[in-house]
Amino acid sequence: MGREAQDSGGTLAERPPSPALFAFTKMSILSIERPNMTSPANALDLSSYWMPFTANRQFKKQPRILVAAEGMHYTREDGGRIIDSSAGLWCVNAGHARPEIADAVQRQLMTLDYSPSFQMGQPGAFDLAARLARLAPKGLDRVFFTNSGSESVDTALKIALAYWKAKGQGGRFRIIGREKGYNGVGFGGISVGGLVNNRRQFAGQLLPAVDHLPHTWDLQKNAFSRGQPEHGVEKADALEALIALHGADTIAAVIVEPVAGSAGVLPPPKGYLERLREITEKHGILLIFDEVITGFGRVGAPFAAERFGVTPDLITSAKGITNGVLPMGAVFVRREIHDALMTGPDNAMELFHGYTYSAHPVACAAALATLDIYEREGLLTRVRDIEKHFEDAVHSLRSKPHVLDIRNIGLMGAVELKPREDGVGARAYDLLVDCFNSGLLIRVAGDVIAISPPLIVTTDQIDDIIAQLGAAMDRLK
Ligand SMILES: Cc1ncc(COP(=O)(O)O)c(C=O)c1O
Repeated sequence: MGREAQDSGGTLAERPPSPALFAFTKMSILSIERPNMTSPANALDLSSYWMPFTANRQFKKQPRILVAAEGMHYTREDGGRIIDSSAGLWCVNAGHARPEIADAVQRQLMTLDYSPSFQMGQPGAFDLAARLARLAPKGLDRVFFTNSGSESVDTALKIALAYWKAKGQGGRFRIIGREKGYNGVGFGGISVGGLVNNRRQFAGQLLPAVDHLPHTWDLQKNAFSRGQPEHGVEKADALEALIALHGADTIAAVIVEPVAGSAGVLPPPKGYLERLREITEKHGILLIFDEVITGFGRVGAPFAAERFGVTPDLITSAKGITNGVLPMGAVFVRREIHDALMTGPDNAMELFHGYTYSAHPVACAAALATLDIYEREGLLTRVRDIEKHFEDAVHSLRSKPHVLDIRNIGLMGAVELKPREDGVGARAYDLLVDCFNSGLLIRVAGDVIAISPPLIVTTDQIDDIIAQLGAAMDRLK
């Protein structure tokens, strides 16, 4: 059978395990060695797996299969090593295959593999929440656990609405997001988010009481900015206009990513976040920072709120909380918001919300081990030491063909390419394929290449990433 999408038929139980997968699993368990694979994609049935955010038919004609990872590198199915310039999907902050996390997960699995989180507790949940609270900006010391960034966003929005109801101001139901925002893929997240493609297929069923701030992307004024762009603080003033339009007493919260990630790395213009905070405070509106990408060290501080010196009322997080090894998210909540809901009789649930896997014991163990590594290796602030080197390296690509813009902040960089006539994203996709085959994993969004390596990256490895990317750009049509 070729690699085209074909249904092999039969129920799951009837199908033998894929020989390639079986061989790999056996080899991994028996020897814990890096695999020396012979093209398992040929033996895989690719038809059943409906891949997320993927051009499925294109992929299945020419699959890219990763079979192992360690440190800064993935291993391809042909045994070739490729350097990870995107920390997986912005999540593997401490690098791959950390034995300390694997050990903690293994121990937890054999101690308490699962426990209900409704009306029941387990030590790891309390330990982790307390530890995270110490890491969070001052005042945001109440923590609600989720399993993903999307769930964190929906949770934060629900807490904001519940808070205003508890305060007797249920008329504050409107939420303001931002154009080009990516706040996950739940209905709440795509409603407040502002990436057109993520909304288009579901239009008509988004949250009704939502409006959007303008995005801050301004190629004319800010092209090739290093760090925070000079222009765009006035984009925050659009919030005053929305408040004038809707009335402050109808607005529950504003949600923005401090640095827009998935839209292609858009650092906040100088003064912009400060202005948003000023306006929200003036009108008593909650400010939510979506730090699913920026949380856990990506911009040189535990949270971007700390890097930019602007403290919101809630922070959403996920990804780096477990170093990406297990699904988990956390919402940090200002204590007053939490306390406003701790009313009524003691036996009344304060928030009708939660997930079967909230504070999953194994995820908690992974997160605690991850935080140990972050602390021991100083990873939550390390980016400050290598940021300048990273910035110079990324901007060195300026003279390469097709470059429209380059931007960076912390360990987040973006190279934006001119779109080709055959469609937005086609050029960057070709680059992704070339890089994958030649030894570099990149993340692309449209025609933007986002570079966000694990926080353990050395300066030599940064140079290697940029050299490989530059060479691939030279080959690009
Ligand atoms: C800022 C932001 N919010 C939310 C999400 C959604 O996270 P998840 O994919 O874990 O649901 C992402 C994912 O990239 C993100 O970047």
